[in-house]
Amino acid sequence: MFQSLQATPADPILGLNQQFQQDKNSDKINLSVGVYQDADGNTPVFRAVKAAEAELLELQKSKSYIAQAGDARFLDGSLDLLLGADKVRELGDRVAAVMTPGGCGALRMLAELLVQTNPDSTVWVSDPTWPNHFPLLQSAGLKLEKYAYYDLAKNGIDFDAMLQDIEKIPAGDVVLLHGCCHNPTGADLTPAQWDTVLEVMQRNGHVAFIDVAYMGFGDGLEQDAYGIRRAVDLLPEVIIANSCSKNFGLYRERTGAAIIISDSESATAAAKSHVMAAARRCYSMSPYHGAGIAGLVMSNEAYRQDWIQELGDIRDRMNRLRIDLAEGLNNAQSVMDFSFIAKTHGMFCFLGIPEQVVLDLRSEYAIYLLNSTRINVAGLSETNLPVVVEKVAEVLSR
Ligand SMILES: Cc1ncc(COP(=O)(O)O)c(C=O)c1O
Repeated sequence: MFQSLQATPADPILGLNQQFQQDKNSDKINLSVGVYQDADGNTPVFRAVKAAEAELLELQKSKSYIAQAGDARFLDGSLDLLLGADKVRELGDRVAAVMTPGGCGALRMLAELLVQTNPDSTVWVSDPTWPNHFPLLQSAGLKLEKYAYYDLAKNGIDFDAMLQDIEKIPAGDVVLLHGCCHNPTGADLTPAQWDTVLEVMQRNGHVAFIDVAYMGFGDGLEQDAYGIRRAVDLLPEVIIANSCSKNFGLYRERTGAAIIISDSESATAAAKSHVMAAARRCYSMSPYHGAGIAGLVMSNEAYRQDWIQELGDIRDRMNRLRIDLAEGLNNAQSVMDFSFIAKTHGMFCFLGIPEQVVLDLRSEYAIYLLNSTRINVAGLSETNLPVVVEKVAEVLSR
């Protein structure tokens, strides 16, 4: 049966990581990974996650199924975190959440919901966006179109072009926005820009689909929620895909939530039922373990404070690396101004260097970044940063 099958091409990011693993150069540096790494290159378990996990295992009396929507403590905690407790109270049954296998599970379940609601739905994504948005959403049956976002020539958001494109999106279409820490560019809307975009979407009757994968990695948990909360204030319909992979470090536990907000309790209840039906036909129920841990961390004050502290330390470290990289590169060469790097948010940013420089860095110095020039700031360390600065400056200046 499988004799005639051709293997699928390697995922470009995973393929590059494989190439890195096989590289024999002992000084190799990997800036292409998609996970947080500490100064020693480890992706640590958060202290509060470790403690909550031990407590959970100790107290757990059964591995029986839980409610189909998922763990209530996790879902309530996630809603409070994203929307703020007052807003959650105000929305009442106009907001609903379903536990999902990671942010990808949430994106896919919400895509299934959109297809059920309107098989002709078009989702507009930023240009560029996280490459996995395409297969994840298109294979559910959605059409994807792009709106202008990042200007490679200016190394920043082309806000006028973005607004012009969003103005042209037909009523009823869905606009996918990154809640914070835009992947791959690290270029985020300012609060004022969020206001403007969301006002256009309100006027034009768009639905907001917000992908939240890095909350707390940008400016802080509250600050990073600005766009989400403003969207909920302004728009009658908002759907949110939340991931706990990065901000709780629960990558392999597959922890996330699909959140639906509408202007009527009955519409929200119907939409939630469609998300649960989609889950039932795909995988029945989401895994519990990571959600159990994150739910406990969010609901226990001591764990919660420790988690916020550690998340803040991670954010501060990435911001320091980002500033050191921008300053280092500006001091080491005169071809390009890299000041824009210091203004980016989260784990990723583009270096904006020519692709040939990326390829030369890889082949000559075993410094790996994506061809798009995306780097993971957390792939830098206090030790390898001076080497990256020196080599990028040297190759760029040739
Ligand atoms: C923009 C974006 N959305 C969603 C996700 C989903 O992550 P996960 O399914 O691992 O929770 C990621 C992960 O890299 C991401 O970068």
